[in-house]
Amino acid sequence: MILLYIFSFIVMQSNAQKSMAFCDDYIEFDNEYFGKFISNVKLSNGADAILAEKRVLIIDEDLNILSSVPIPKTQTHNCNWIFKQSSDLFFVGCQKNGEGPYLVAYKGINQTHYSQFGDIVYFPNLNETVISVSSILNTIFTVQSKKVTLFTLVLSASDWSIKTTQNVLDKNYFTMTSEINITDVAYESYSQDNMSFYKLIVVEFTWGAFWVDSLVKNNIISPIRNGLINLKGFYSPYVYNYQSALIHSTTQNASQITINLFHYDRNDISIKVVYVSTQSTTINTLYNFNGQWASWGKPIKFGNLQGILRRNTLKQSVFNVYNIIIPPVLNENQVAVTTYDPVDTFASPPQDFPIYYFNSGYRVVHSIENNKLQSCDLYNYKLEME
Ligand SMILES: *[C@@H]1O[C@H](CO)[C@@H](O)[C@H](O)[C@H]1NC(C)=O
Ligand SMILES: *[C@@H]1O[C@H](CO)[C@@H](O)[C@H](O)[C@H]1NC(C)=O
Ligand SMILES: *[C@@H]1O[C@H](CO)[C@@H](O)[C@H](O)[C@H]1NC(C)=O
Ligand SMILES: *[C@@H]1O[C@H](CO)[C@@H](O)[C@H](O)[C@H]1NC(C)=O
Ligand SMILES: *[C@@H]1O[C@H](CO)[C@@H](O)[C@H](O)[C@H]1NC(C)=O
Repeated sequence: MILLYIFSFIVMQSNAQKSMAFCDDYIEFDNEYFGKFISNVKLSNGADAILAEKRVLIIDEDLNILSSVPIPKTQTHNCNWIFKQSSDLFFVGCQKNGEGPYLVAYKGINQTHYSQFGDIVYFPNLNETVISVSSILNTIFTVQSKKVTLFTLVLSASDWSIKTTQNVLDKNYFTMTSEINITDVAYESYSQDNMSFYKLIVVEFTWGAFWVDSLVKNNIISPIRNGLINLKGFYSPYVYNYQSALIHSTTQNASQITINLFHYDRNDISIKVVYVSTQSTTINTLYNFNGQWASWGKPIKFGNLQGILRRNTLKQSVFNVYNIIIPPVLNENQVAVTTYDPVDTFASPPQDFPIYYFNSGYRVVHSIENNKLQSCDLYNYKLEME
């Protein structure tokens, strides 16, 4: 088995070699002290937080450790989520076998250091398995396979708490007759008539997705209308299942979205652009993003770049970066299907939770195995742009 890993890693490396960016040497972080990497969030232009098993690392763009904070947890809980409310306040979310999910808050002391803020806070009336937790302003939402539940973050100078709201986005909310199976939520802000809104895209395993327009008031979002992006009518649900979405742009009337698919039996993955409006939904099969394995986790973007992490059953991963130009909505009928190959590919031997994000200056940070990070310059992309 180990030989197979090594062999296929070498093959993978040499396949990827022709498009390798200029990478700095990787930096290995102390596995004993931090534990393996799990997830990450960008705190500001100069600081990223990496959630590891035992601590959260705060690092700068050159991957220097600015500081780190411990995660107070019992042996039995897994802390898999990290998200920020502002560059000064971030949260880590934990749960134990689908019981009693809770959050830990960290507040900035200064530009480089954070410390735990208040106590662990459990979600009120929630004792079920949560797929993920995230936030928009002072609304915190939990994603479960059958519903997205919106909570309100109540902040004071010395403490914080979580309050329930009336907003549960479930089968009834979306007026579906059969149970739904939510796999991801993506969101993006827009404004209209001087008011702020968020477009939420709730990805559903067999249908495609739902869109939800939410109005922002006092830093809290309230859903005001919703609709179905019915991809079932376009693509066979026996072949295509929907995993996660990336919103490239949105207004009230039109959104440009690419969707990652669960694709078990083929290596390459097709991604569609979807135009959503309050009147209708137009679906164009615009993009085929070639890649060697099935996609994993969330796609990410930076300007014209879209990043897709892929991995195989051995947990070997490649992070593919594509240079795409999303056409303006007005020309939606004129654009033809485009097939993209990655401009760059970053490979890793087996790792449980790949970390991947863009930094300013068209740089990519990706993890190698469970405790190494590497920063790379997207030289090939810059060449393409010249
Ligand atoms: C959650 O449910 C389990 C049983 O399913 C129970 O043992 C546990 O005490 C509950 N936790 C909370 C915080 O209510
Ligand atoms: C930030 O706070 C930490 C912890 O109190 C301290 O060690 C560090 O020197 C401070 N950094 C700056 C730039 O003030
Ligand atoms: C629900 O979605 C998950 C992926 O998140 C998938 O593994 C599972 O098979 C789906 N369940 C049904 C009943 O479609
Ligand atoms: C939006 O606000 C600006 C100034 O704040 C004002 O001049 C403009 O008329 C407003 N527009 C609408 C549509 O309310
Ligand atoms: C949204 O679409 C409607 C109907 O096509 C149109 O009347 C309205 O001006 C559009 N609004 C914006 C902000 O584009």
